[in-house]
Amino acid sequence: MKKNKSAFITGITGQDGSYLAELLLKKNYTVHGLIRRTSVLNIDRIQEIIDKYEKIRKLKIHYIDVTDTSSITNLILKYKPNEFYNLAAMSHVGISFFTGEATLNINSLACYRILESIMKNHKSCKFYQASSSEMFGSSKPPQNEKTEFNPQSPYGVSKVAAFHTTKYFRQAHGIFASNGILFNHESPRRGLNFVTRKITHSLARILIGKEKKIELGDISTKRDWGHSKDYVRGIWMMMQQKKADDFVLSTGINYSIEDFVKKVFRILNLDWKKFVTTNNKAYLRPSEVRNLKGDSSKARKILKWKPKYNLDDLCLDMLKSDLKLYGMTLDEAKKIAKKL
Ligand code: NAP
Ligand code: GDD
Repeated sequence: MKKNKSAFITGITGQDGSYLAELLLKKNYTVHGLIRRTSVLNIDRIQEIIDKYEKIRKLKIHYIDVTDTSSITNLILKYKPNEFYNLAAMSHVGISFFTGEATLNINSLACYRILESIMKNHKSCKFYQASSSEMFGSSKPPQNEKTEFNPQSPYGVSKVAAFHTTKYFRQAHGIFASNGILFNHESPRRGLNFVTRKITHSLARILIGKEKKIELGDISTKRDWGHSKDYVRGIWMMMQQKKADDFVLSTGINYSIEDFVKKVFRILNLDWKKFVTTNNKAYLRPSEVRNLKGDSSKARKILKWKPKYNLDDLCLDMLKSDLKLYGMTLDEAKKIAKKL
């Protein structure tokens, strides 16, 4: 009888990690979530699966910082996972300008150390690296697997290093190590300081009178936004291939931040200009990635992957969820909006 698979996920408490864990558990994997110790337990996004799967031993949580190589090695030796998804990161581009060294330690060196440990201790383990469209930086769109990397931030630099590290272990040591080069993907679980969630969450707070304005930085930059649920499915598909490789995941359509703001405010028939200020210095970056638009034809052809959500679905999903957080339905929010 075929044994069920097991997987390690670093970054399981994050947006993608939580959706990926749900997907793997539904596929009957045993999932090991590696989480760092924090003074306040940060497991909101995975509380539901902990309640459902921990007691039946399909989900195991281990306190391990991704930079703690010896502990990761011990865990690999103990559980010999089939697949290792490395999603942990200092994932905020703007913050990386102030935390360069930590960003490289978490995002680049940890990737190297994990791969070295896999090579020495459990060579058959498949490895996924969460690479990013931020690596393309100033390269012209549409960007695909052949586009040159021109990173514009410490975050971008750190992800380029991890990308090449992953490729190196694949080419030099025969490890199954794949890079997913993912364009921006969002969801109701997106962190509050990324621009999309900041907009939907702040709008909900404006409706209940807790905020007056949404202060943004540069809203002329363009991003290719998809839904995290679609993208974690693509990640899993990459790991089911016979051969490791690198794949772009994107929708192929991009919009400016201003377009996103307009779409969200239009749902409630509100004039965004009354509630949004722009070019706030606190959110401007020393260098920007101006225009991201992915060409994911390789993933669509080889993996047979394609996204189900478009940007309108995504905006609605995120806004509805933030309204619910503050006890409002969409219809109630529309009524309140009329009085603003
Ligand atoms: P996220 O929500 O910010 O989650 C990041 C995860 O990494 C969290 O679970 C965080 O733990 C964990 N982490 C950070 N530092 C750690 C450390 N030292 N030790 C252990 N865990 C640590 O990010 P995401 O949006 O899910 O993205 C997942 C991955 O994909 C990241 O590597 C990101 O860079 C990459 N990526 C994301 C996108 C996107 O648009 N979302 C696009 C391309 C690539 P805490 O919960 O304790 O903070
Ligand atoms: N966060 C934020 N906050 N961004 C703002 C704001 C603001 O108030 N105002 C304007 N922006 C602009 C940023 O300058 C950037 O051009 C764009 O909105 C998107 O910013 P983020 O949502 O922070 O995402 P990101 O594109 O920098 O990075 C995300 O996508 C990458 C993939 O391309 C992150 O998820 C990265 O981890 C990921 O690799």
